[in-house]
Amino acid sequence: MDKIILRNQDIPDISDIDVYERNGGYEALKRAVQGMTPDQVTDAVKISGLKGRGGAGFPTGLKWSFLPKGVFPRYLVVNADESEPGTFKDREIMEKNPHQFIEGVIISAYAIQSHHAFIYIRGEYPAAARILEEAIEAARARGYVGEQVLGGDYKVEITVHRGAGAYICGEETAMLDSLEGKLGMPRVKPPFPAVVGLYGKPTVINNVETLANVPPIIDKGAEWYKSIGTEKSSGPKIFCVSGHVNRPGNYEAALGSITLRDLIFGKEYAQGVRGNKNVKAILTAGASAPMLTAQHLDTKLDYEAIAAAGSILGSASIIVLDEDTDIPWATQKMSEFFKHESCGKCTPCREGTYWLLVLMQRVNEGKASMQDIEMLSVVSSQIMGRTLCPLGEFATSPVTGSLKWFKNEYEAKVKGNGHS
Ligand SMILES: Cc1cc2nc3c(=O)[nH]c(=O)nc-3n(C[C@H](O)[C@H](O)[C@H](O)COP(=O)(O)O)c2cc1C
Ligand code: SF4
Repeated sequence: MDKIILRNQDIPDISDIDVYERNGGYEALKRAVQGMTPDQVTDAVKISGLKGRGGAGFPTGLKWSFLPKGVFPRYLVVNADESEPGTFKDREIMEKNPHQFIEGVIISAYAIQSHHAFIYIRGEYPAAARILEEAIEAARARGYVGEQVLGGDYKVEITVHRGAGAYICGEETAMLDSLEGKLGMPRVKPPFPAVVGLYGKPTVINNVETLANVPPIIDKGAEWYKSIGTEKSSGPKIFCVSGHVNRPGNYEAALGSITLRDLIFGKEYAQGVRGNKNVKAILTAGASAPMLTAQHLDTKLDYEAIAAAGSILGSASIIVLDEDTDIPWATQKMSEFFKHESCGKCTPCREGTYWLLVLMQRVNEGKASMQDIEMLSVVSSQIMGRTLCPLGEFATSPVTGSLKWFKNEYEAKVKGNGHS
């Protein structure tokens, strides 16, 4: 199948605006701005079935339609923070196919009648930020960005804003506070950003990959897009594959068209586990979702199938751990990450991530008792459902997931050191 999002993998130099235009680039923008009303664009995105690619999988067109009628200005904020461990898809889009993304930003801003879009990009992506700024200027020179888009009445500005390296700023309301110059910490919801967002105004927040899907939807039609993937999970998806595989990288496939096994072992995908070893565990949404195991290899890669297997597809960062991986050790690494990245605003997450790490260290240092292992579950249950934002819940996933499938490894560490 020809790539729809990672077209750069098929078409050399598509980051150049001339090459992009020669391959149909900015035609969707013309169609939208010159031939459709904002509501018609929103309806097309609704019909397409596009779901947010940032993690939560919320229907994009529906999100756009939540904006209160008649309240202006409105803002579009693009989430380019991409800080989930093992996620690197937005980076490839921004660096290698920036115009498709920018075209998506302009069409989406038009659909929600916003005249200012902000791209919040993680500070560790300086090359992507520079490429985007250059691409925006190239688009401006062609009349796609600025005071009169395509010579008409619609105007739009795009600002690239660099973050400062905090995972929590990927949470949409922390991102808004950070954009406003405040410390990036999640806001209490409601009110939701659609009603009270950036600078207190109605705001839509979407992921980079989500918006890169918009030009093909407008160009080829919502029905065409809906025919790709499954009934509930439509369209193409980028899967970021890393860990113990022969060929890590970004791979695009229609949702539900391949299994975890295809992605990990397929010739056109990651080409198997290094050293021909067996798969032991698979993280499907970076560090934030419970791990799956080799017995789940035949699970289809779409939101519903991964959920039925007991995990979350999220941003589809697939990290493969081979048979030699020490699971409690790997879990501790993830607990360190979450303890470090917890913003500290609410107690169950601030204290809970600290105690999960203390307990994981005890396990790996051979100082834990069986009671400590039970305590890992207790602390996790005290975090779940009690935090202001999902980070707290994410922090419990590596622990509960590894205890579900690999409790024997924890017990071996306890028994090996004479504890009970
Ligand atoms: C702790 C945390 C980190 C997040 N990091 C990101 C991120 O790096 N990129 C992203 O697009 N969404 C991230 N999200 C999800 C966003 O809050 C939001 O749901 C998403 O940007 C919405 O865009 P979408 O509907 O297009 O997916 C994160 C959420 C949480 C709770
Ligand atoms: S859950 Fe954690 S990261 Fe989220 S607001 Fe509470 S302390 Fe901050």
